[in-house]
Amino acid sequence: MGHFPNLPPPDLCHVRTCDRKRCYSGLEMMSQPIQPKLIIHGGAGSSLSGKGSVEIVRQSLHRVIEDVYELLQNGASAPDAVVRGCQLLEDDPLFNAGTGSVLQSDGQIRMSASLMDGTSLRFSGVINVSRVQNPIDLAKKLQPEQDRVLSDFGATEFAREIGVPIYDPKTEKRLKEWWYEHTDNFHRKMADVVAEPAGRGTIGVVALDAEGRIAAGTSTGGKGFERIGRVSDSAMPAGNYANDRSGVSCTGIGEDIIEECLAAKIVVRVTDGMSLVQAMERSFAEAESHNRDFGAISLDATGSIVWGKTSDVILAAFHNGDRIGDSLEAEKGTKVVRC
Ligand code: GLY
Repeated sequence: MGHFPNLPPPDLCHVRTCDRKRCYSGLEMMSQPIQPKLIIHGGAGSSLSGKGSVEIVRQSLHRVIEDVYELLQNGASAPDAVVRGCQLLEDDPLFNAGTGSVLQSDGQIRMSASLMDGTSLRFSGVINVSRVQNPIDLAKKLQPEQDRVLSDFGATEFAREIGVPIYDPKTEKRLKEWWYEHTDNFHRKMADVVAEPAGRGTIGVVALDAEGRIAAGTSTGGKGFERIGRVSDSAMPAGNYANDRSGVSCTGIGEDIIEECLAAKIVVRVTDGMSLVQAMERSFAEAESHNRDFGAISLDATGSIVWGKTSDVILAAFHNGDRIGDSLEAEKGTKVVRC
């Protein structure tokens, strides 16, 4: 798949110019300090209706980008920056992760999150954990453990063992949404997970630090109204993966992401010699032909930042060392954009 007809030029990204150092890549990186890179997302979905919603989401995403990019500039490691970014997005009730997570069919919140350190190649995470503020913290604490992915009861027991306080992430908006759907016998397939109807929410962060290390983190409240025991892609290598060449975080319909093995597939393609943009183009062309509904954010060790989607919107924002930009006003339909 050499040609990708819908690929818009990078300038279609919404761009805010910042007075930052320029980027370095390739051989330059060996003699120059590495310019940190950062991309985050707050989900993907069917619409972001109205300028009001766009601006609300933009403000939230850009605030996180500013905070976390500053950490990277001050020498934070990629895993630490990713964890901080995920915490901030989990704490923002606008997004479907941590506080503001959607309720499952039985009215309970069960969250999933994972962290992949691309340098150590360690993947850790929690699946369907309840009553904690930041599931990404558990993923971080599990990094050095022998048993690194824990589900429901085991994840909760681990949280209590390490002294994580009990926290109810439920918001009034999510409760009302669930109650409305409950009285309508759950006719809707998924919850609305941003300010306006737009399902398939998740949050994610991918960072390249000043020492060239890459990490990826992803966290979600799930699809909303799902069966008890349904497992999300967010704590699987299909939804969140990184190595020393590239890192990817996915959002969208978990089942679609799992069946494409999306994050791991993109990272393996880069490892085997494709450029990041080629790997994203190939993977999204395949996804479109399979009628998938999702998005992904990615970056690589040369400093490339790329987002892609088959869904109408992906709520992504980035800092490429020169400027902050986002994907919020990109056209509907399948797109792969290098930022
Ligand atoms: N991508 C989040 C989920 O499907 O649970």
